[in-house]
Amino acid sequence: MADQADKLRKMVEKNKKKRYRAIAVTSGKGGVGKTNIVVNVAYLLSSIGKKVVVFDADLGLANVDILLGLKSKYSLLDIVKNGKKMSEIMVSFNDNFKIIPAGSGIEEIANINEPVFAKIQDELREIVKDTDILLVDTGAGISKKVTYFLKSTDEIIVVVTPEPTSIADAYAMIKIMAVNYKKDNIKIFVNMAKNAAEAENIYNNLNKICKKFLKKEFKSVGFAINDKNLPISVKQQKILAQTNSNSGFTVSMKKLVNNLFKENIKVYENPIAKFFASIFGG
Ligand SMILES: Nc1ncnc2c1ncn2[C@@H]1O[C@H](COP(=O)(O)OP(=O)(O)OP(=O)(O)O)[C@@H](O)[C@H]1O
Ligand SMILES: [Mg+2]
Repeated sequence: MADQADKLRKMVEKNKKKRYRAIAVTSGKGGVGKTNIVVNVAYLLSSIGKKVVVFDADLGLANVDILLGLKSKYSLLDIVKNGKKMSEIMVSFNDNFKIIPAGSGIEEIANINEPVFAKIQDELREIVKDTDILLVDTGAGISKKVTYFLKSTDEIIVVVTPEPTSIADAYAMIKIMAVNYKKDNIKIFVNMAKNAAEAENIYNNLNKICKKFLKKEFKSVGFAINDKNLPISVKQQKILAQTNSNSGFTVSMKKLVNNLFKENIKVYENPIAKFFASIFGG
């Protein structure tokens, strides 16, 4: 009897598929803040007990480990060429936050093809069993090595800045994802805006173009304004959300986490802004 119950329990355990979310952060134009967004969001999620894996999919131009000041012994190339397991190449930032490094200057991996991609996918499947959230930091633009990863991710965040080139390239990226790859779950994040009004304007304009030409609308998932502390923390290879929990960019990242994951990370409210909001009913 006990034996049967045990068997049944094991069967239920086996069939209980772990639900995890895979979110890719991408952009049309480069240098818009993708890697910083991914790393800060990952850190915040790890700080509230979520198991996060950041997959550095900027193949050949790895950034995540460098941004965190971590040294990785292996890279994706070791999976493809040397039969390493994903668990062997991963590096830990903390117990909950792990990174899959892409490896820098590796031409073989930068020229990704179907079999290589399939191998990486297989290895990823093993890893996500113990993961709540997989964040994929892609390179910029619509090259094959970017679209491979976007095709296989359910949720995509497109990062855009107020520069006209960034907006045009974000539209091109959204068009390919929505039309060619039939992706519906695309969200827009405006970074490096002067203020909230500019961010709202950029989002509205981009969404309007999508509505007109693609007959589709996409939700905004937040915005961040220019934060002078961010480039400083990048130089120090520190995560801003860890070293300064009230800096503007950190606050934006907390709001992004709350928004995306329905979490309730406490957000610092500037007392002056709060005072004016109470007067003007904002
Ligand atoms: N809100 C912000 N305020 C100030 N500086 C920012 C902000 N967002 C990003 N930056 C700066 O922009 C630079 C590029 O950021 P990041 O490397 O995250 O961009 P990326 O989109 O990942 O670039 P790439 O396309 O090369 O991978 C960094 O030096 C970072 O400090
Ligand atoms: Mg990057």
